[in-house]
Order: sequence, then structure tokens, then C-alpha cells
Amino acid sequence: MVITVFGLGFVGLTTSLGFAEYGHKVYGVEINPERLSTIKGGKLPFLEPGLDEALTRHLGGNFTPINTDLLAQAVSESDAVYYCVGTPYGKDGQADLTYLLSAIDQTLAVRPQEKYQVMVVKSTIPPSTTSQKIIPHLLAKGLKVGEDLGVANNPEFLREGHCWDDFMNADRIVLGVSDERSAQVLRQIYATVKEPVYCVSLNTGEFIKYLSNTLLATLISYSNEMSLAADVIGGIDVAEAFRILHMDKRWGGATMASYVYPGCGYGGYCLPKDTNALYAVTKTAGFDAQILKNVIATNDHMPEFIAEKIIRAIGSDKSQTIGILGLSFKPGSDDVRDTPSAKIIHALIEKGYTHICGYDPVAISEFRRYYDFDIEYVNSYEEVLNRATSLVITTAWPEFHDVKERTQKPVVDCRYMLHSN
Ligand SMILES: NC(=O)c1ccc[n+]([C@@H]2O[C@H](COP(=O)([O-])OP(=O)(O)OC[C@H]3O[C@@H](n4cnc5c(N)ncnc54)[C@H](O)[C@@H]3O)[C@@H](O)[C@H]2O)c1
Repeated sequence: MVITVFGLGFVGLTTSLGFAEYGHKVYGVEINPERLSTIKGGKLPFLEPGLDEALTRHLGGNFTPINTDLLAQAVSESDAVYYCVGTPYGKDGQADLTYLLSAIDQTLAVRPQEKYQVMVVKSTIPPSTTSQKIIPHLLAKGLKVGEDLGVANNPEFLREGHCWDDFMNADRIVLGVSDERSAQVLRQIYATVKEPVYCVSLNTGEFIKYLSNTLLATLISYSNEMSLAADVIGGIDVAEAFRILHMDKRWGGATMASYVYPGCGYGGYCLPKDTNALYAVTKTAGFDAQILKNVIATNDHMPEFIAEKIIRAIGSDKSQTIGILGLSFKPGSDDVRDTPSAKIIHALIEKGYTHICGYDPVAISEFRRYYDFDIEYVNSYEEVLNRATSLVITTAWPEFHDVKERTQKPVVDCRYMLHSN
């Protein structure tokens, strides 16, 4: 089959290369010229193990990265057009659909009238978006869904840092469809995969993704709230308590346990915006979801709580240099979008602790590109240990496990990763 994919970010590049690996011919459209030329040069624009080898295997073969100049040719050949563009925070926490609708319009401007193509949204969109926003958008342009073209969603569950592996070994494939013709095209795309494929309604497909992300956010906020409860009660070894909790057979030793663990609050691109978007769409529909509301409130409170915890541990001397260990939102990734480290640095600066020295094994340049903090950055673990007078672990990179063996300086372990906190 031939597929055009809009957006070559974490999801779009992985999807493009995954489909290429299945044997399909894929055009990947990217509007960011810098990102496109990096990919055309055979390099990844972000850290993602395994994806680099897939790019080397398929670039110039099944996978062709293009800019919009070649869009008409790509779309005219395609059986399906996938949308993997960003759906960031919008007004009042709603998902901003600007990129998605604009990519859809770009497709409509060049689509062949005579061919039944399926437009598939892989970006995360709140339940009812296809039925209430995308289909009316197409109808307003005189297009009948199910007759002139198909519309579907195919939510993505990959984790950054494991994109390739999660895509190629997915737990399940979810296809939100409204007509049998579209379902057939999508089933053909996934014809070679061994994972179970579920065809569900459009709203169900969209909802499943939010069910997943908001549950993860809830588990994290629950764990963080419990760490605050433990702190006020006192005498509780939080890390030990959670590790012992995980030994319960009902958790099955699964990696889900990593979400039932306190830290600095959830961050990254997806959990914050998706939790807010589901809360907003539900509220607009007339239901004020109290658990979601409080999950968000707990998370919003975390940077302030962590900053106070740090200050309690390091004291009131504002001339000291605080070494921030970890800038990415999680270990194994250089993604710094909505990273708790930035919020904690901001909170410390607001409280007058302006001498800050940041270190991360891979994310320093991304962090500097995203955030305009007037702080120092160092390029090695050794250097931050030497420069700082106190240290704060904000991302649980494995290399920080030995920090207490390497320095006598105060260490605040905001990720509860060291054995005795
Ligand atoms: N990152 C994740 O872990 C993850 C996991 C599952 C789902 N998602 C969802 O997938 C979607 C994409 O996420 P991402 O992390 O890959 O985003 P990203 O920001 O890394 O990538 C989006 C890309 O789309 C490009 N783009 C925007 N408009 C375009 C257009 N009209 N034509 C061509 N390219 C265009 C951007 O330049 C950017 O490179 C979001 O809805 C996100 O919520 C993300």
C-alpha cells in the first residue's frame, strides 16, 4: 500500500518507518525544514534507540521524506493519509487542532477526487473530535464521509525512548472507524502484524487513548499525593514504602508499577496536555470530572512543593550553587517539553535561588533551546558534582545512582531513586 504521513516527530517518523518495515511505500511530509533535512541526511532529530537503524534501512527505499512541494504526487498515489502532527494545549486546556485541520486542508487541496482514500488521525485527539469537528469540517467543504473519502483514527500508545520497540511490538492496534470501506483499508495496512487489531467506533478509538493517559496521570498524582501525606506525617521512608507496595502480586511485577511511584509530577508532551484536554472536553459536555480535576491540581502543585522540599534540605543561603541533575522529562529521552525540571528551576529562581547549574546526559541543548533561564550548564556529571554546593535529582537517570558515593554534598532525591532518601 502507499501511505502519506504528515509530521515527522516522535510519532510520525516512527509510524512512517514502521509502515515501511511492514513493506508499504511511505511518504513522510514535514514542514520544519531543519527537521526534514536532518532526516533526509539519515539522522534522527531526537534521541530514539532503534529508530536510527530503521531510518538507515528504509531511507531511499520504502521511506521518502518530503516537503509540501511533493505533496500532490504523494497524496495522489496514497491509499491512506496519516496525521501525526502535534495537538498541543489550546484555550482552556482544550486540544489545539490548528495543525491537524491545516494538514487536512493541505490534503484536500491536492487529493484525487476519483479515489477513495482514508484520512487517519494518529495524533491524540479528545473523544468526539472526529464526529463533532473533523467530519463537519469536511462536510462544510462538500465532502461526504463514507462516500467521497473515509475518516478514521488509529491512536498511538508508544513511549518516548522506546518508540521503535513499542511500535513494532504493540500490545494492540486500535482502529476507530465509521465505515467498512475505511476499516478494510486500515486492516490491510496492518495485515502482517501479529498483534490483535480492534475496529471500534470513532469516539471509542479516541477515548481509549485518553483512558490510558489519564489513568497513568492519575496513578502518578496519587503517588505524589501519598508522598506529601507521608512527609507531613513524618518518619516514613517513602521510597521503601512504595517499593514494598510494588511487591504485591496483584501488580504482577509489571512496568505499570513505575507509574505508582512518587517523583516531581508528570511531564513530557502527552500526559499534561491530554489530561487537561479530557477534563476540558468532559466539562464542555456537562460533567465536571472531579478525579481529573484533582489529578491536574496535584500535578500543578508539585513544582512548588518540590522547591520547598529542596530549600528545607539545603537551607536558606541563597548564594549557594544548586546542581540540577536531569533536565529531560524522563530518563532515556531528550524530550524537555513540559519537563518538571524546568518548573522546579523556575520555582527556585522565584524564591531567590538564582545560582543554578544544570546537567543532563543528553538533553542540555534541547533544554537550552526551549527555556530561557539565566543559569549555567555543564557538560559532565563530574563537573556538576564539582561546581555545585548542593545537588537535586530531578530526572532518574541511572548514572545518578552513585551520587552519594561520589560526593559528601547535600543531595535532594526528588525521584526517590536512591536507596535511603
Ligand atoms: N510523543 C509521544 O510520546 C506520543 C505518544 C503517543 C501519541 N502522541 C501524539 O501524537 C501527536 C504527535 O506527537 P509528537 O510527539 O510526534 O509531536 P512532534 O511535535 O514531535 O511532531 C509533530 C511534527 O509535525 C510537524 N507538522 C506540523 N504541521 C505539519 C504539516 N501541516 N505538515 C507536515 N508536518 C507538520 C511538526 O513540524 C513536527 O515535526 C500528538 O497528538 C501527540 O499527543 C505522542
